[in-house]
Amino acid sequence: MHQLFAPVVFNHHVTGDYWLLEVEAPQIAGPLVPGQFVNIRIGTGLTPFLRRPFSVYRVSRDRRRLQVAYKVLGEGTQLMSKMLHTGGECDLIGPLGHGFTLPPKAERIAVVGRGIGIAALPTLVDLATENGIEVHGFLSARSRPNLVATDVFEEHGFPVHTHVDGEGTFKLVTDHLSAAMETLHFDAVYVCGSNRLARAVHRLAEARGIPSEIAMEQHMACGFGDCHGCVIAVNTDRSCRETVWREVCHYGPVFQTWEVVNAST
Ligand SMILES: Cc1cc2nc3c(=O)[nH]c(=O)nc-3n(C[C@H](O)[C@H](O)[C@H](O)COP(=O)(O)OP(=O)(O)OC[C@H]3O[C@@H](n4cnc5c(N)ncnc54)[C@H](O)[C@@H]3O)c2cc1C
Ligand code: FES
Repeated sequence: MHQLFAPVVFNHHVTGDYWLLEVEAPQIAGPLVPGQFVNIRIGTGLTPFLRRPFSVYRVSRDRRRLQVAYKVLGEGTQLMSKMLHTGGECDLIGPLGHGFTLPPKAERIAVVGRGIGIAALPTLVDLATENGIEVHGFLSARSRPNLVATDVFEEHGFPVHTHVDGEGTFKLVTDHLSAAMETLHFDAVYVCGSNRLARAVHRLAEARGIPSEIAMEQHMACGFGDCHGCVIAVNTDRSCRETVWREVCHYGPVFQTWEVVNAST
């Protein structure tokens, strides 16, 4: 884990509510595992007081630069979009948390994301490609401009199914996944961005006996397990009879979907 004042390469609006920040941070980009995150300090004063956590969206081929795709929501992200300029510096800590795991000998995986949750997936798509694994994308958003990362799948020549609320014949993006599973075998499924999606993915994966992982989001402070501000209850085993408190920043943000309480409901 490193704290850096990373030179900002660019920080610009992309589409809908989304912005893309790129910084030069080889100490973080080099060892980063897909699904890990960075904790960014925004501004120099007392507000916002806490750093803000963001998944790493992409890492450059030489692993010197990393990107963060972010949605402008509140005070912190509004300031991020205004204050971080090319040539300036970004104070960030990373890589943080535990990321996704690929099953040994996997040949094909599915990734399912909604909204800005999709931001945790492109580094996994890139790693899978390096390992000769075929990736099918299932992405959803409330409106077309808020659908991001389709280009990442297209870049690798992978199929990507998109779903916009209220459009098309399927009700949910997981209906596309369910239909694809009728004819294709996936070795694992990865999901982020919505608890409803996580439950649907968990059920589909369990029915086929394949592993499924989820990147969880939780309000955070330190980002490395010291403040206990980000605990959630997780199942200790698949029987779901017992739970323990776990810090999302330290044990996660990636969990097995069966660990998520109520994933089976
Ligand atoms: C591990 C992790 C990875 C994340 N990756 C990304 C990413 O790649 N891109 C991205 O845009 N966002 C990501 N987030 C969410 C991001 O941290 C919040 O959107 C950001 O902190 C909001 O800051 P703000 O000051 O603009 O909003 P605030 O004023 O703090 O809050 C605005 C709204 O966002 C909600 N919110 C704030 N923080 C979180 C949070 N941590 N999780 C869920 N909801 C929150 C608040 O409840 C409120 O409704 C991630 C969160 C975690 C925990
Ligand atoms: S944010 Fe401090 S323990 Fe997770």
